[in-house]
Amino acid sequence: MNPNHPQHIAIIMDGNGRWAEKQGFPRIRGHEMGVRRVEEIIRAAQDEGIKYLTLYAFSKENWQRPQAEVSFLMGLLSQYLDQKLKEMKKNNLVFNAIGELRDLPEPIQKKMAEGMRDTRQNTGLVITFAFSYSSRREIAEACRKIAGEVLKGLIKPEEITEQTLSEHLYTANLPDPDLLVRTSGEMRISNFLLWQISYAELYVTEKFWPEFTREEFLAALDAYGKRERRFGQIL
Ligand code: FPP
Repeated sequence: MNPNHPQHIAIIMDGNGRWAEKQGFPRIRGHEMGVRRVEEIIRAAQDEGIKYLTLYAFSKENWQRPQAEVSFLMGLLSQYLDQKLKEMKKNNLVFNAIGELRDLPEPIQKKMAEGMRDTRQNTGLVITFAFSYSSRREIAEACRKIAGEVLKGLIKPEEITEQTLSEHLYTANLPDPDLLVRTSGEMRISNFLLWQISYAELYVTEKFWPEFTREEFLAALDAYGKRERRFGQIL
């Protein structure tokens, strides 16, 4: 692997709807194209030897979209899992899902649980999808779990550290992202991995997610490679 590459890349995949509208297509065409890009970027990440890729696929707020669009997205997701989980198993990928997965339709929850179980032993790229995800809720839940452990006498309040909180997040098994990419030009974090991206480099591109090709991905890696990371220190 290129030593200048990030170990963990997180991506806010934004702009499917705007891309479709710009072409005069219904918004759902944008999501269909978005799934193709997901495929392309997973392959590119594998080829570049990236170890962790985390994709923001559906936020807690996204449930408020029109019912028809939400149903379409759930259908796409279900289809995606049917088609890709077997392939992931064969291709040495680790499938992972984070977020309030209980909000998802039950058949999808089941497929995800199977996917996670069946790919756990793999050693290649760890691909994490965030579904029904809210970073604030994740942090609140971690606090609730820690408070429960305090009540049970498993840990003392004065023993709670940053590490304790990290270990109670959905991402307990993942290193923090080194690079956060956002497509479609918006300068926002949108409730994604707030705790985990404390020292991540940010890369925002004007391209809509359906336009985020392998070349765009490589451009983001290249930009990252030229950054000097200081973690708040003077180097
Ligand atoms: C943002 O575009 C995208 C989403 C809310 C969904 C992202 C979903 C995919 C890329 C496909 C689903 C993924 C899988 C694995 C099945 P937007 O609709 O917010 O675009 P807009 O901001 O232009 O409206």
